[in-house]
Amino acid sequence: DFPKAVKVVEVGPRDGLQNEKEMVPTGVKIQLIDMLSETGLPVIEATSFVSSKWVPQMADHAEVLKGISLAPHVRYPVLTPNMQGFHAAVDAGATEVAVFGSASETFCKNNINCSIEESFQRFKEIISSAKQAHIPVRGYVSCAVACPYEGHVEPAKVAEVAKRLYELGCYEVSLCDTTGVGTPGSMASMLKCVVKEVPTNALAVHCHDTYGQALANVLIALQMGISVVDSSVAGLGGCPFAKGATGNVSTEDVVYMLNGLGIETGVNLSKVIHAGEFICKALNRSTNSKVAQKNN
Ligand code: HMG
Ligand code: MG
Repeated sequence: DFPKAVKVVEVGPRDGLQNEKEMVPTGVKIQLIDMLSETGLPVIEATSFVSSKWVPQMADHAEVLKGISLAPHVRYPVLTPNMQGFHAAVDAGATEVAVFGSASETFCKNNINCSIEESFQRFKEIISSAKQAHIPVRGYVSCAVACPYEGHVEPAKVAEVAKRLYELGCYEVSLCDTTGVGTPGSMASMLKCVVKEVPTNALAVHCHDTYGQALANVLIALQMGISVVDSSVAGLGGCPFAKGATGNVSTEDVVYMLNGLGIETGVNLSKVIHAGEFICKALNRSTNSKVAQKNN
């Protein structure tokens, strides 16, 4: 059965803009987030408090977070890989953070420069400090289907990492097809394994669209009862440490599909399309959203 309502988590300002070749001016990022704040999207991932040596595109994290107009019903999580990032995020006014782990050892090392085990030591510290400060923590599991370095990832490993994040206190765990190689078949096998360990209502999916399967993969997750979907305006996105992977499933296409299924999102599609047009124009690129192309 499909869920009656779906929470769409907009990751464009973070996942999208972290992977652009040209530096995006801080003012453009702020304007994008402010436009997205008017669309009815309940969650907008704003930036990441990571090292500017590793990801120069996110170096203006504090300016972005301080510069946006916070809408009352919108949450603005930011990525925090370690305590240094957590403190910087809180100092800049973050009221929600996300930790990002991996089901693949090699990706973990390439992405955050530590082993999976070490990453959990970091997350534990972040989550316990966040708890004291009443800051909710979201968790990501990268390489939930495959790893850019190791290939196939066992669903049991994904379930194990997801369960650990959930048990440490992440209120929601987002299962990520980082490279976008998943199909409804491999997604279903992975999800079947994970839902045995983590309650379905605490799970989200985060699908990149490299092979054009993202929307189908989202649909399979919905059919399995998952009601939180990460997506990116104009389908921007990609991880600098997963070369060749393209953007996330576009928010426009996800909302269009959910509308067609009669599933409530609270999101105004034409306002998202408008925000997508703005950022595509600013980046001088064309949209990855089929729905936005059609409405142009
Ligand atoms: P490290 O080099 O191992 O860290 O990096 P370190 O503790 O040894 O510190 C080295 C330097 O980094 C020091 O500076 C620290 O101050 C600085 P120096 O003394 O050399 O001048 N540093 C920091 N600066 C700013 N913010 C921080 C921070 N921490 C240390 N938080 C680190 C470890 C985790 C920092 C690094 O590997 C990193 O920043 N990685 C970023 C990874 C990233 O952003 N990846 C993309 C996002 S994840 C993604 O896209 C996947 C996702 O979308 C899901 C999916 O699709 O799969 C979420
Ligand atoms: Mg991603």
